[in-house]
Order: sequence, then C-alpha cells, then structure tokens
Amino acid sequence: MTSTITISPDTQYYLDLEERYGAHNYHPLPVVLNKGEGVFLYDVDGNRYYDFLSGYSAVNQGHCHPKIVAALTEQAQKLTLTSRAFHSNLLGEYEKYITAYFGYDKVLPMNTGVEAVETALKLSRKWGYEVKGIPEDKAKVIVCEGNFHGRTSAVISFSSDPLAKRNFGPYMPGYEAIPFNDLATLEKAFQDTNVAAFLFEPIQGEAGVVVPDDGYYKGIRSLCTEYNVLMVADEIQTGLARTGKMLACDHENVRPDILLLGKALSGGMLPVSAVLCDDEIMMTIKPGEHGSTYGGNPLACAVAMAALRVLKEEQMETNAAAMGELLRREIQKLDSPFIVTARGKGLLNAIVIKHPDPEAAWDLCLALKENGLLAKPTHGDKIRFAPPLVITKEQVLASVAIIGKSLQVFL
Ligand SMILES: Cc1ncc(COP(=O)(O)O)c(C=O)c1O
Repeated sequence: MTSTITISPDTQYYLDLEERYGAHNYHPLPVVLNKGEGVFLYDVDGNRYYDFLSGYSAVNQGHCHPKIVAALTEQAQKLTLTSRAFHSNLLGEYEKYITAYFGYDKVLPMNTGVEAVETALKLSRKWGYEVKGIPEDKAKVIVCEGNFHGRTSAVISFSSDPLAKRNFGPYMPGYEAIPFNDLATLEKAFQDTNVAAFLFEPIQGEAGVVVPDDGYYKGIRSLCTEYNVLMVADEIQTGLARTGKMLACDHENVRPDILLLGKALSGGMLPVSAVLCDDEIMMTIKPGEHGSTYGGNPLACAVAMAALRVLKEEQMETNAAAMGELLRREIQKLDSPFIVTARGKGLLNAIVIKHPDPEAAWDLCLALKENGLLAKPTHGDKIRFAPPLVITKEQVLASVAIIGKSLQVFL
C-alpha cells in the first residue's frame, strides 16, 4: 500500500480544533471543506473535489443550489420559527404541496431522519392499538437485519450493528429483525397478529447499498395488505430521485402506507424530514401526543418546497438513472482485480473492495481524495459512490478516471 497524504498547516489547524473540542463520534477523512457548488466541494487549501457522498444523499440537488439558497435566504429574512403553538402562513402551503406531490392525505413534519423514523414507529403502534386492535403493549414492528434507521435509543434497539448498541442498553422491546430481501420469512413473521408494521429500507444504504431482488417491494405490499400490517418505507436515503425514480418504491409502482423522507428534502440546507400517510393512520395522533419545536417551521417549509420543485424541474430522476448506468458501466470497464462488484440503482452505488489489507477501502478513499474525489468507506470493504444528481456525463467520466488512477495505490 502506498497511500500517502499531504496535510497542510491550515488543514491541520482545523483537524486539531475538532480533535480537541469535539466529541469523537465520527472518523472523518482528513479534509476540511469550506465551499460547495453543484457536484464539487472545495477545501481550505483551495483544492477541488468531486463529491461522491452528497452528505449521505442529503445534497441530491447539488451543493448550494441557487433556487434553494434563494428560498432559504428570502424566507430567513421574513420568518423562521413560530413553533407549533401558532400557525404560520407557510405550513399549510407546504403540507398541501408535499401531500399532493407524493399522493398522501397528510404529512407530519419533523427535522432529522431518525425523528421521522421515531414518528413512524409511534404512529404504527398507535394505529396497531386503535385501529387494528392489538392488545395493550403487545404491538410488534418487524425490521430487517443490517438495517440503518438512525441512532436514537429506540432505533438502535433493533440495529444489528454491535457498534451502534454496545453499552447503550437496556434496549426497547417490541421489535423483531428478519433477513432483508426474504419474503418467506416476512410472511412467517406476519403470522403473529400483534404485528403492526414492517419497517424497511428499499435499498440498504449504510449496509453497503444492498439492492433486493426485483419483486421484493411488490411482495412486501401484498403481504402487508393480506395480513393488515403497515408497510413503512424508509426512503430517507433512497428517496427524492436518488435511485433514478422519485421514490425507490416507484421502481415497482408500490405505495407504502407510511413514507419517510429526510435528507434531500432540504437539499442539504437544514434538517427537514417528513412522515406521509393517510388519515386512518395519521389521525390516530392527537394534539400533545407528538411534536417538535422546529418541526414544520416556516424556513423549513420554504426550503423543502424549493428542494422538491427543483428535483422535478431539472428532471433529476432521469439524470440519476442515466448517469448511474454510465457510472457502473465505466467502473466495470476499469476491470480492476480489486473491485469485486459495482452495484446500485441510479446514483446510489457502492463498490466492494477485495484486498487482504482490512484498511484497503480507507486507503483507497485517501488516494481518491489526493486525486480529487471524496468518498467514504462503509462497513470496511465497501465504498459508496453517490454524487449529486446534477452530475454530467463528462463529470462521470472524469470521476471514473480518478477512480482508475487511485486504484494504483494497491500496486
Ligand atoms: C435509511 C436511513 N434512515 C434514517 C437515517 C437517519 O437520518 P438522520 O441522520 O438525518 O437522523 C439515515 C441516515 O443515514 C438513513 O440512511
């Protein structure tokens, strides 16, 4: 391995500040960024990088999209927060816009992705007791092994990642994990009449972009309908055009009962998440039973509407589908013995590295950085390649050239 990286005194200054004053709950690549534009990020030394992470798919629309920035700055000068103690002139407009956009009766606005997940879990339980008739405190939610839905105490209770769980117990009961992409086991789990919901990621992102078999979403839909179980799709990472359709479930024309969105719902401007469902589910929650000070704030509403509008105006689904195919094809053409697979859908992709050194994926990411592309390993041997959806053909080809050059670190 010949990965050497250069760190300037300026960069080192910022790395030292974080090391000294910040919690050590992340292990970032040693690059300090101070500007973003479209598919590019710039560091404090003026170097330019292709962004192949997009803030974990929060920046689908590209960094600092001018129309989203305009919505943000305009609204920031008028009104940013009312709390839900009062109404704002934007909340209803946003609610109308997003429910029409995705075809649901109602939306419950939250901030981070994991808050949307928490909201869906609470809604599922409430619906389970008040509509389905599950006996008190017996409701169960089925989840998938290898899931990633965030890091609150409830959500880590059903994580299969030991790192997420160790010494954070006791865990919350009421969850059962089954293998991903396994409809037979799902049907077995549904034999328990206390099951309220099935929560899943259409493509497991953090697990390394694990794409299920064709027909999985349709299969989930028909089992959920047959057994009166809520289908809860966590599209926080897969949604909003990332996989080449507005929602990953759209690949099979399937409509979940509860749809979770986050990340790119603000185009990377501020935390905005949403839970969408129909009245039968949403109306089980009454005033005072759930909420958030910032949820549905006017600034978030203005930004989210702009972020959604831009996705459609610029046909980002179509570009994600085409550029994703090109990216995977060009990576395959590199024919590297160190890449086992290049997989994904649209612009949610990952390569799996084959190398005896367990640090190989990290070292490759360092080499990519040196050559002008930022990506981050997930689960040791996998590297996610998920650039903003505004990437052009020329930029994909230039990025793959960087990847090819960086693979020489293994020679
Ligand atoms: C599928 C999925 N759900 C939920 C989350 C949590 O989102 P947040 O980090 O905004 O809480 C993530 C974050 O990566 C995610 O990928």
